Amino acid sequence: MKQSNPQESRLWAYINRTHITEKNIKELEHFKSNMINHKLSIWNPKTNGIRFLKELIFFICSNLAPSEWEKLRKIPNREVGTPYSIQYNDETVCLDYLQAVFEICFIEKYFNFRNSTVIEIGAGYGRTCHAILTNYDVKAYFIVDLKNSLKLSMSYLKAVLDEEQYDKIAFVSTNQFNDIKKQNYDLCVNIDSFAEMDEETVYLYLNFIDRQCTDFYVKNPVGKYFDKDLDSQSEGNSVVEMALETGILRDIINIYNNSQVEQQSEKYVKSYCPSRNWYCVSNGWAKPWSFYWQAFYKKR
Ligand SMILES: C[S@@+](CC[C@H](N)C(=O)[O-])C[C@H]1O[C@@H](n2cnc3c(N)ncnc32)[C@H](O)[C@@H]1O
Repeated sequence: MKQSNPQESRLWAYINRTHITEKNIKELEHFKSNMINHKLSIWNPKTNGIRFLKELIFFICSNLAPSEWEKLRKIPNREVGTPYSIQYNDETVCLDYLQAVFEICFIEKYFNFRNSTVIEIGAGYGRTCHAILTNYDVKAYFIVDLKNSLKLSMSYLKAVLDEEQYDKIAFVSTNQFNDIKKQNYDLCVNIDSFAEMDEETVYLYLNFIDRQCTDFYVKNPVGKYFDKDLDSQSEGNSVVEMALETGILRDIINIYNNSQVEQQSEKYVKSYCPSRNWYCVSNGWAKPWSFYWQAFYKKR
């Protein structure tokens, strides 16, 4: 039937019944962060986490440089483990390996991987090791980790690397650290794990780096946070308490205030410097996480 006036669709009749109701639109105080706006301008972030993650990946891909695409393409089997991914430029892309590409692009400006011996402390499932071994011809790669993560990285890296690359890796549990702590390494890498260790453990590792390594890359949070908008308490208050007590940078800051993050980064650069025998060659924001910083140090 021809309409004489514009009519609401069935969809909008539903929205007006449930979200943008006369009762709801009476108060302006919180409407941009409640159900009214979730039908006007923004999907409900509380129930759309995966959508926002995929949008973030898509946005990052739209800004990736050709050299970064080249590095990403050299890393095969990134789909093992079924990450949340999107399609971009005929590649399947997830956030973990975008981060790995940003990390190696930063490191390679100051370090020549060729024929080098690398040691990574706290490797998770091994994405950084995977990215480095498939992009550069390193001599040997040591992973030091707690035994459960180590078991995971062993089986993951076996699945994604070829035999020659896999054979370059030495998996060392923290219990076996004494066996390898007197050897020399060209580069030590620590990504997102010093901030989760006890202070004493971090200093033990920094001491080791000071004595046995010549270069050091560290990417970690600049501090702690307590933001009621975030779901940090979904695992309970005791987990939040544990997270607040770890690491050597425990100041609570507003992680969504770039000035505060930058100010805190000065403390970060000083705190992770292994000793006075080292200097920081370069440091900067570690995108995409607002409060992560990266720094590269060399021994004098
Ligand atoms: C949040 S994960 C980060 C993993 C990886 N670097 C990444 O960014 O994907 C923290 C890692 O640090 C490891 N870890 C925690 N405490 C450690 C310790 N005392 N010594 C060595 N590794 C540790 C964990 O087992 C895990 O592999």
